[in-house]
Amino acid sequence: MTTSTEITVRTADEQDWRNLLLLHEVGFGTPYTSEAVDARRELVGIDRSIIAVDDEAVVGVTMDFPMTVTVPGEVAVRAAGITGVSVAPSHRRRGILRTLYTEQHRRIRATGAVLSVLIASEGGIYGRFGYGPATIESTVSVDRRLGAFHPKAPDPGGVRVLRPTDARAAITAVYDRWQRITPGAQVRPDILWDQLFADHDIDRGGGTSLFAMLHDDGYALYRRAGGEDAMIARIQEMRTVTDDAHAALWRALFGLDLMHGIETTLAPEDPLPQLLTDSRVVRTRSRHDRLWVRIMDVRAALEARTYRSDLDLVLQVDDGFLHAGGCFRLTARDGHATCTPTDDTPQVVADLDVLGSLYLGAHRARTFAAAHRLWADTPETLWAVDHAFDSNRSAQIGWPF
Ligand SMILES: CC(C)(COP(=O)(O)OP(=O)(O)OC[C@H]1O[C@@H](n2cnc3c(N)ncnc32)[C@H](O)[C@@H]1OP(=O)(O)O)[C@@H](O)C(=O)NCCC(=O)NCCS
Repeated sequence: MTTSTEITVRTADEQDWRNLLLLHEVGFGTPYTSEAVDARRELVGIDRSIIAVDDEAVVGVTMDFPMTVTVPGEVAVRAAGITGVSVAPSHRRRGILRTLYTEQHRRIRATGAVLSVLIASEGGIYGRFGYGPATIESTVSVDRRLGAFHPKAPDPGGVRVLRPTDARAAITAVYDRWQRITPGAQVRPDILWDQLFADHDIDRGGGTSLFAMLHDDGYALYRRAGGEDAMIARIQEMRTVTDDAHAALWRALFGLDLMHGIETTLAPEDPLPQLLTDSRVVRTRSRHDRLWVRIMDVRAALEARTYRSDLDLVLQVDDGFLHAGGCFRLTARDGHATCTPTDDTPQVVADLDVLGSLYLGAHRARTFAAAHRLWADTPETLWAVDHAFDSNRSAQIGWPF
C-alpha cells in the first residue's frame, strides 16, 4: 500500500523491530529497557505491527493485540488493543496516522473483534476515528493524619501484609474475579504479571519497591513515593470484589502511621470518601479518561452487553471513519437486547464515538444530548436510553497498555 506522498505502509518484519522501537522511544520520550522490549514483543508480536516507510526509514508505526474486555452484565467480548502509535517528528501532519489507522482497522475488522480500545495520549485525536472516552478515574490525595473512619464504617479485618511475590497467586486470583465483574477491565496476560512482580527500578518513579496488603477478596500494591521528605504511600493497584475487602484494606492503609498521605486513583463510585467522617480528606487532584472504545461491530456490541431497563427504539449510528454505522432497531427485555438493521425512522442519532462513551456505562446520554452530540426525538426516549445504558458497577481499565 502506497500513500500519495510515496510513503509505503506494510507489516513490520524482524529487521524493522529496532527502528520502530526507536520511533516509540522518540515519540513518547522514554527509552525502553530490554525487559520492556521483550514484554512488548511477546504481547504484540511483530506480525501485528504496521509501519509507514519513507525511502527505507520507518516513519510511522501502530500495533495492536487481542484482548478480552468485560462489558456491562459481566460479559466478555473480544477486542483489539491498539498501542505503540507513533509518527516521526519529521513526518507529522501529512496523514500518516490516518493511513496507518485505515489499514489497521481494516485488519482488526477482519479478525471479528467487537471493540477496538486504546489509551489516548491527547484528547483531541481519536474522536474522528470513532473512539470515545469510556472509563473515568480520579487521582486523589488522602491526608491520612486527618482521616477518621465514620462510626458506621465496617471494620471487617482480615488483611495480611506480605511480600508481593509471595502473594502472587492470591493477587492474580482476586484480579481475575474483579476483572470478570468490572466493565472495561481486561484479562491480564502472564507476561504483564511478570513485569508487575519484577518491579524494575525504572517502573518505581523513584519510590521504594512494592509492598502488598492482601485480603481474601482484595489486595493493595503500594510503594513509598520517592523524595527525601515524601512519607507518602502511593498505591499502584488496588482491586476489591467486596465492600468488606475495600473497607478492610483502607483501614489497614490508614494504619500506616508514619505515612502522611496516601495517593491513589479511584473509580467514580468508589465509596472511600463515604467511609470517612470528613469526605474532603479525599482530595481530587485530577479527573480524567482512561480507556477509549471504538465499537467495531455495532450489532454484536449492543447485543453483548446488558441493559438496566427495557428499550424499543431505532438508533442511527454515524461512523465518518469506516462507515460501519447504520440504523438499528434496539430492543431490550429483561436486560438482554436484540439489534437488527432497519429502514425505520431513527429516534436516537449519535456518532460512533458517542456510542463508545456510553457503551461501558461511564457517561450519560443526557450529557451528550445537552452538548448536541446525541439527538433523541422526545425527552422520554432520551431518558430511556440514559437509564438503560447505565451500569451497576463503575467501568475501570484493568491495566494500561
Ligand atoms: C499523534 C500522532 C501519531 C499523529 O500522527 P500524524 O501522522 O501527524 O497524524 P495525521 O497527519 O495522520 O492526522 C490524522 C488526523 O488527526 C489530527 N491530529 C493529529 N495529531 C493531532 C493532535 N495532536 N491533536 C489533534 N488532532 C490531531 C489531524 O489533524 C488529522 O485530522 P484529519 O485527518 O481529520 O484532517 C503523532 O503526532 C505522534 O506520534 N505523536 C507522539 C506520540 C503519540 O502521541 N502517539 C499517540 C499515542 S496514543
